[in-house]
Amino acid sequence: MSFFNVEQAKPRLNRSELAVPGSQPQMFEKAAKSAADVVFLDLEDAVAPDDKAQARKNIIQAIGDIDWGNKSLSVRINGLDTHYMYRDVVDVLEQASDRLDLIMIPKVGTASDVYAVDMLVTQIETARNRKKRIGFEMIIETALGMQNVHEIAAASKRNESLHFGVADYAASTRARTTSIGGANADYAVLTEPLADNSRQVHWGDMWHYAIARMVVAARANGLRPVDGPFGNFSDPDAFKAAAARAAVLGCEGKWAIHPSQIALANEVMSPSDAEVTRARRILEAMKEAEAQGKGAVSLDGRLIDYASIRQAQVLVEKAAQIAG
Ligand code: GLV
Ligand code: MG
Repeated sequence: MSFFNVEQAKPRLNRSELAVPGSQPQMFEKAAKSAADVVFLDLEDAVAPDDKAQARKNIIQAIGDIDWGNKSLSVRINGLDTHYMYRDVVDVLEQASDRLDLIMIPKVGTASDVYAVDMLVTQIETARNRKKRIGFEMIIETALGMQNVHEIAAASKRNESLHFGVADYAASTRARTTSIGGANADYAVLTEPLADNSRQVHWGDMWHYAIARMVVAARANGLRPVDGPFGNFSDPDAFKAAAARAAVLGCEGKWAIHPSQIALANEVMSPSDAEVTRARRILEAMKEAEAQGKGAVSLDGRLIDYASIRQAQVLVEKAAQIAG
């Protein structure tokens, strides 16, 4: 390991993160009773400009009035390029109860964006003697944000997680797609002619680079990487595939833009019984190996060594966190 110690952000379950428009208060109770680990009440892109002020009021009231159980509760503020943003932060933190855990900052472009929100939040927390320190979730969803993702991840002690906002990212990079996440038939290669002269189309994952880059920046700074929305809520299989490939790359969670996606995200983002059993067997086998003075042994015909212990511990610790 490096001599440099990566401090880990406050741990929270973040397998599913439910998006709820602040302008739809009739949805709040259901969201609070859902199985989502995190709920974010939205003031940004799901709320029309004329509804922003009322949405703020709805959210402020709901944070205090509704029983959110043991969920983490977040508010997505508007972007720093809008005049809504300062009012979102000031009104929510001055008027809402201490039940709020997180603020989600959309379209973060530079470390200074985080610094600016931190300054504002810190002043209000001090002035109002707020007891709970607010954490930050940051959406990486612009070319600028992706370019500066490492500095953004390190920009504040409040930072807890990075989220991949696939829709805005596509718009910002001018990707030729109008769907929110998922596969694209044009992102493919044709094989060379096979033995029978036929050729096959191999689809790729056009979001691979972005998610992998975000995961590295998050993990190198002790933050949780979370995959963002999947728009086609009528296709649970495709949602599960998208969540699984994000989990395999290191993401801890995925957004749910529809209640039906909550259970799917929780399922995919929880290690399976088989994975946890295998991880425990690895730890057991390595303990025996160590007792015999060996650093590497075979288990089921595969090599395992000290790195396997660290891999297995990630799964066992995640299972323990979920078990509570
Ligand atoms: C989320 O905010 C996205 O743009 O995908
Ligand atoms: Mg967005």
